[in-house]
Amino acid sequence: MNITYYGHSCFGIEINGKHLLFDPFITPNEMAKQIDATTVKADYILISHGHEDHIADAVSIAKRTGAKVICNWEISVWLGKQGVENIHPMNTGGKTTFDFGNVKCVMAVHSSSLPDGSNGGNPMGFVVESPEGNFYYAGDIALTYDMKLIGEYRSIDFAFLPIGDNFTMGVDNAIIASEFINCKKIIGMHYDTFGYIKIDKEAAVTKFNHSGKQLTLMYIGATITK
Ligand code: NI
Ligand code: MN
Repeated sequence: MNITYYGHSCFGIEINGKHLLFDPFITPNEMAKQIDATTVKADYILISHGHEDHIADAVSIAKRTGAKVICNWEISVWLGKQGVENIHPMNTGGKTTFDFGNVKCVMAVHSSSLPDGSNGGNPMGFVVESPEGNFYYAGDIALTYDMKLIGEYRSIDFAFLPIGDNFTMGVDNAIIASEFINCKKIIGMHYDTFGYIKIDKEAAVTKFNHSGKQLTLMYIGATITK
């Protein structure tokens, strides 16, 4: 599995030759100027919720690539109005099998209005299970006890968790969350992009180490293999 970081909470994940793109927010991101959104690959686009910093490039990339967009019902209706045709609507608790593996939609405590103010439904996280490994993409979340269900009923090899605080949980809660989901390997997201969520990255990595866990903070544009 190859993981490419496009900044903020946007990752491209290649599983068995299929390209999954999570929460595309590239063009408006000052920190991702070196990424050209018009060349980003996608066979699937997964959208956790409707906020601008998770959906900004979804319409243009979906139209260019023809990728299938996986999102909640309300976002699927909104994308349809923007002219996106290839959409697979889901909702919290649901699981579907695609050609790369399973996607299970899990709860995410946050909010989810769309950029024009329309209702974005409930935010979701995704558990992806594939022959190449399993991971959890949390989206924007608060720490909740419900996350223990993920640890009890699914087997997670690594997880993408927000660590920027202010709008989502921060580092301390992400460490507790990694206990709840029973996963020691965390890739950080939703930090440093704007003033409210600037963090001390070195301190964050150290805190994870001290709790026996590993926090990976990727450079924008970098690709790692899991
Ligand atoms: Ni958000
Ligand atoms: Mn956000």
